[in-house]
Amino acid sequence: MKRSKIKRRAGDEAQITARIFDAAIALRSGIEYHTVMTIRPIIIHPDPRLKKTAAPIAEVTPAIERLAEDMLETMYDAPGIGLAAPQIGVMSRVFVMDCVKEEGAAPAPLVLLNPVITWVSEALSTYEEGCLSIPEHYGHVERPAEIDMQWMGLDGKTHAQRFDGLWATCAQHELDHLNGKLFIDYLKPMRRQLITRKMQKFKREQARS
Ligand code: NI
Repeated sequence: MKRSKIKRRAGDEAQITARIFDAAIALRSGIEYHTVMTIRPIIIHPDPRLKKTAAPIAEVTPAIERLAEDMLETMYDAPGIGLAAPQIGVMSRVFVMDCVKEEGAAPAPLVLLNPVITWVSEALSTYEEGCLSIPEHYGHVERPAEIDMQWMGLDGKTHAQRFDGLWATCAQHELDHLNGKLFIDYLKPMRRQLITRKMQKFKREQARS
């Protein structure tokens, strides 16, 4: 999901802050900190890769750890609050998220491998969602207000957590990406088609420049 209104500052100070930030992210995610992480290009809708179902991850390998690091770096750089592997062209069931909203607050990154929803609340909530693969477009989506999610962590163990608020919305949005579903698929067909046409135009303009 896209994070709106918060941008990294430019300049030396921001670079130093970013380095500390990255180390903290690595530490809290339980991954080894590498000084060089790679920001990967984010695939923009419409693209067939965003419509495919991603494959389960059999075990945590150094390649998966590296992928998770790059995904976190790419997400924070965007800036976003969630990113799924298919959005960078990797068809594996993994997403990352950090829905801490306050600027300057400690990061709380999560890396979720093979995530599944095990319970949803009857109560629903509506949030105006955005997506890093559909820049500048937003739409109201109604989803369960609370969910229980189970996943494999980078430690190879099973984790479970109840999410509410923005965390619940984001987790469901990112899980959808692993099943080839986008937030615009919840919108009325007219609105979805309008956004898709605008994105096609955006991509043509990007290709020309
Ligand atoms: Ni998204």
